[in-house]
Amino acid sequence: MDKLLLDGPSTLHGTVEVSSAKNATLPILVATLLCPYPVKFKDIPNLMDVSTMLKILQSMGVKITAVGGEICIDAGKLENQHADYSLVKTMRASVLVLGPLLARYGVASVSLPGGCAIGARPVDIHLSGMEKLGAEIQIENGYIKAKCKKLIGATITLPFPSVGATENLMMAAVLAEGETIIENAAMEPEIDDLANFLISQGVSVEGAGTSRISVKGVDINDLKPSSSESYKIMGDRIEAATFIIAAIMTRGDVVVKGFNPKHLTFVLDTLVKMGANMSVGVDYVHVKKSTRLKGTTIETAPYPGFPTDIQAQMMALMSVVDGHSIVTETIFENRFMHVPEMGRMGTKVTLKGHSALVEGVEFLSGAPVMCTDLRASAALVLCALVAQGQSEIQRVYHLDRGYERIDEKLTALGAKIKRIKG
Ligand code: EPZ
Repeated sequence: MDKLLLDGPSTLHGTVEVSSAKNATLPILVATLLCPYPVKFKDIPNLMDVSTMLKILQSMGVKITAVGGEICIDAGKLENQHADYSLVKTMRASVLVLGPLLARYGVASVSLPGGCAIGARPVDIHLSGMEKLGAEIQIENGYIKAKCKKLIGATITLPFPSVGATENLMMAAVLAEGETIIENAAMEPEIDDLANFLISQGVSVEGAGTSRISVKGVDINDLKPSSSESYKIMGDRIEAATFIIAAIMTRGDVVVKGFNPKHLTFVLDTLVKMGANMSVGVDYVHVKKSTRLKGTTIETAPYPGFPTDIQAQMMALMSVVDGHSIVTETIFENRFMHVPEMGRMGTKVTLKGHSALVEGVEFLSGAPVMCTDLRASAALVLCALVAQGQSEIQRVYHLDRGYERIDEKLTALGAKIKRIKG
């Protein structure tokens, strides 16, 4: 297992371009299962989760070729509609194949994803939505066994605006008969990007980015790409926020570009309220040298609220500002695993149920720490950037799931970071 050696403190300077968004790439790659022809993408991020998803598609018989900086995905002819536990257990988003397989083939056998470090993460909302579209669902030996003659469009009201369930049901609706309305849909920008991709293949999708999404079912033969251009996936707003917070914590001067700052409004407003000094452009944020910030209170919520995927990184920042902060995590039941590891570097965080009281401290000290999940790992890197002395960050495969070449990008900004292959 690789680890990172990081010598702090450092001050970041320069420009960094974020990669395409992991959480848009994954559902859009799955959506190619609906298309009986090759689809080309450019700048697909080189992430572990993306390669896992490509392996799942290939295990079904999807042909994947890399041409220059582009990949071509051809789901023209599948050999099976099975997503195996061996792959699904490593990445929950694999459950997204359920909708397209049911819609196109009327059958799917998808391993239950199981929980992960941050929570139980059931898929009940996905499954009950599929049943509303006419699917018969059984759970057998840890697998979702689904079948239907033909999915029939329906109005589905989600009990919670689940991102994955919204995406799964949007894709299932593409080949269902008639119109599907998803009420209380998730509104994350990645949903909008999935809708944009489906629209680029000839599907009528309205309302993406709002809580009411309409998808009009089409015949598979009516699907066709609206242009020969390779599809470009949106920039990663979570990676962008991670670099913005890194620049603020190290009191650096960094331009973070390649994403839409409008996707981070709540986060940027919070940072400005804490005293961050930034200018915002169409596709970049320029973080300027900030003085010492002051604490604040955040509560994670579905978009457009404060993103749960930026909670750990924000807690790292709060650990080194003046005064106290309070962080409340409302989306996942166990998303404070970064706290004990950050504590090894000298942070002062007290947990109370779903809330954390963060006391700003003068400085952190480098230490050996262990990654536990993707965004917790990012928080440890942020702390190590400002800590005095060397930190050894272990199990960085968690980090590699969602951050492309983060050590190279940070080194280019002046961080003293080395990857030790293990
Ligand atoms: C997506 O996960 C993201 N992953 C997560 O990012 C992100 O944290 C999450 O949305 C919330 O924004 C991808 O897009 C690949 P949910 P997803 O369904 O779809 C409960 C990262 O760090 N729930 O909105 O799994 C669930 O347990 C990852 O990049 C049910 O109860 O999130 C959780 O508590 C982590 N039943 C809450 O809803 C269901 O059927 C939010 O889950 C589905 C979800």
